[in-house]
Parts: sequence; structure tokens; C-alpha cells
Amino acid sequence: MLIEIPELLSSETLQHCRDVLADAPWADGLITAGTQSAQVKNNRQLPEQSKQCQVLRNLIADALNRNALFLSAALPKRIFPPLFNCYEGDHNAFGNHIDNAVRQCPISGQRVRTDLSATVFLSDPDSYDGGELVIEDTYGRHAVKLAAGDMVLYPGSSLHRVEPVTRGTRLASFFWIESMTRETERRRLLFEMDMAILQIRTIQGDSEPAVNLTGCYHNLLRMWAEV
Ligand code: NI
Repeated sequence: MLIEIPELLSSETLQHCRDVLADAPWADGLITAGTQSAQVKNNRQLPEQSKQCQVLRNLIADALNRNALFLSAALPKRIFPPLFNCYEGDHNAFGNHIDNAVRQCPISGQRVRTDLSATVFLSDPDSYDGGELVIEDTYGRHAVKLAAGDMVLYPGSSLHRVEPVTRGTRLASFFWIESMTRETERRRLLFEMDMAILQIRTIQGDSEPAVNLTGCYHNLLRMWAEV
């Protein structure tokens, strides 16, 4: 299941990100690639030790923690500190790969199981050609190119790639989430239930059925969550 989170970043935060990235010390994207993905990865990435990366990570983390849609869709247990990449010129694509199942943050040493992958688009889609994130899941192939500030969440088990950028610059943040509910289908069911309860409450207020359904949601989450 692909979930789009519109306007994760406000226009002010987005501008702040772009200002920080304007003088970023970009390095070869191979610094975090696994053996297979190193064969197909051709982009640039912000070194995790750079001060720019620290600043940007905090901006993204704050936005995630405030976003109800993200919290409901991902049910995050741990979030790998966001990374940042740049596709342009000769470093313009990332071929088909599946992300590593477990990532270890080199700074904290913490391991994160990559139940979900996330990309936050930082460049205006009209400012570059190509650069679609193409994701293949059980429902087929999806080409994703969102407005700046929007995020897409997709199962970490999906085969995916970034198409070559043939004009302009594509800046993005990417990271992984370990969810309290490991199974995609359980997470999906909880998310759909949460959204339906929200709709019912909007129409009816806190009616008795709405309260009862909310209880069912929490009891399912209690049964399935690993915290
Ligand atoms: Ni990937």
C-alpha cells in the first residue's frame, strides 16, 4: 500500500530545507549502499556527520511527530534518522533495488527494521524532468512524483527505483520506519479503520457506535503492537 502524506513540510520549513541544502557538502551516494544497490546507485547524498544533515534531520523529525496521518499510517516504533539525496547531471538515477531489511544508524548504533520506506520530495516537480520514484508492489507499478513538501510511504519490501533526472535537480529526504505492527496487512487494516472512525466522528460526533469502534481499534492495536 502506498500512502501519500500531503504537505508534511510547511512552505517555511521547505524553504529552510532548501536554504540549508544550497551549500550542502554532497558526497557519492555509495556511502550508504548495500552490495547489490551499489551496482545501480548513481546519485549524491549528504554525509550524516555534516552539520547540514543534523539540522535537516531535526526539521523532518519535528514534522513527522506533528503529522497525525503519518502517525496513523506508519504506527512508528523507531525512525531511522532521515538522509538526503540529490539527483542531477551525471549523478542522476538509482536502478531497481530492495532496501536492506535492517539499517544501523552509524551515530547512535541503533538498529531499525525497515518495515516502511519513506521519501519526502523537496524540489518543485516542474523544476526537473524524470526523477519519478517507481514502486512495484502487489498491486502493480506506481510512478510517484509529488509536490515539494509531500511524502510517500511504501512497504520496505517493495522493489523500487528512481528514474533518470534529465533536467534540473531533484532533492529529497529518504528514511525508514520500524512499525509497532510489523505486518503490512495489519497496519493497513488499522489505518483504514482509523480513517473510517475519523469520518464517522466528523459526521456523528462521539456517538456510541463511534466510541465502540474506537475501542475496537485500540484493542486490535493492543493485540498486535510490539512496543
Ligand atoms: Ni531504496
